[in-house]
Amino acid sequence: MDDSGGGEVSSTGSKKVAIVPGDGIGPEVIKSALAVLEAAGARFEQIPLEIGLSRWKRTGEVMAEEDLRTLKKCDCILFGAITTPPDPNYRSVLLRLRRELDLYANIRPFRSKDLDFIIVRENTEGLYSGLEEVGAEESRTLRVITRRGSQRIAEKACDLVGERRNLTIVHKSNILHSDRLFLKTCQDVARRRLVAYDDMLVDAAAYNLVINPKRFDVLVTTNLFGDILSDEAAGVIGSLGLCASANIGQSYALFEPIHGSAPDIAGRDIANPIGAIRSAAMMMKWLGNAEVAKRIEAAVQKALEEGKKTPDLGGSCNTRQVTEAISQYLKLQLD
Ligand code: NAI
Ligand code: MG
Repeated sequence: MDDSGGGEVSSTGSKKVAIVPGDGIGPEVIKSALAVLEAAGARFEQIPLEIGLSRWKRTGEVMAEEDLRTLKKCDCILFGAITTPPDPNYRSVLLRLRRELDLYANIRPFRSKDLDFIIVRENTEGLYSGLEEVGAEESRTLRVITRRGSQRIAEKACDLVGERRNLTIVHKSNILHSDRLFLKTCQDVARRRLVAYDDMLVDAAAYNLVINPKRFDVLVTTNLFGDILSDEAAGVIGSLGLCASANIGQSYALFEPIHGSAPDIAGRDIANPIGAIRSAAMMMKWLGNAEVAKRIEAAVQKALEEGKKTPDLGGSCNTRQVTEAISQYLKLQLD
């Protein structure tokens, strides 16, 4: 399946990748992803950056302006996860990156033995507009839906349907009239692109993801619904730790596992590294090396089939053992 969101460049040798491990299990799973990329023979320049809670503890800020300039000079970012600092005025750095770099498409493939579907989440507007009035007695968040935002996410989702089955537009337009614009715009794009489509209310989609996930192929939805449905989809697949994502813009991208920094299991070498490894594979595909991406996914499948699993999947391997197994399969393929 084409899930990279488009391969814009052709050679990866001279590419610069900003490496942002973050906090908690972030550094553990990014270390695994880099080891697997090396075993796969992927070549690119690494620009390490400290962003997140550890940085905040040291300097009082999660990310400096200079970091943003450094990030912009790279081709893309490989991101772990960061822990939200205990500061009531903190605004999410990931949201800021998505907005500043205009990474409007959040592409989240979900794959298991018998399931294979993609959630395409609009990443820059909706309820994550950042337009809020917060008071002691009343607080408001403005939900922003634009034609342009809906159009470009629908186009991206249609690219991913390819010769597969269909597009499901997920919304709540019976209650939220802002979603009428989203629904109509997505329908227009799908019709023009000759993509088979249907639509579903978000609550029904949440239910169907559990009882009949096979009915889905590509889902396109707004920001908050996509956030919630993708953690649900991760549960249906078996673990948050298995799932990868790409945040894609016009010519820049950020790749990250969909899980957070999981402080409850950090430092114990039991985090599932597969979400981060699959994110690295999506990155290679976006960088133009689809062959490496395919080999990494095959090695991940083999590890899972052979029971090389972390405890979240009921296995008894640690992070290092799963990483080593996947790296070993890749090295055997190279010989
Ligand atoms: P979480 O995704 O970190 O963890 C939820 C549950 O899933 C935990 O029980 C955790 O142990 C488990 N889990 C997550 N990833 C796993 C993995 N790779 N292997 C095995 N188990 C895994 O969400 P939570 O606990 O709500 O948030 C923790 C921190 O992460 C918070 O500070 C939150 O703000 C932040 N966060 C950051 C994100 C990012 O940087 N992209 C995304 C989501 C949360
Ligand atoms: Mg989330």
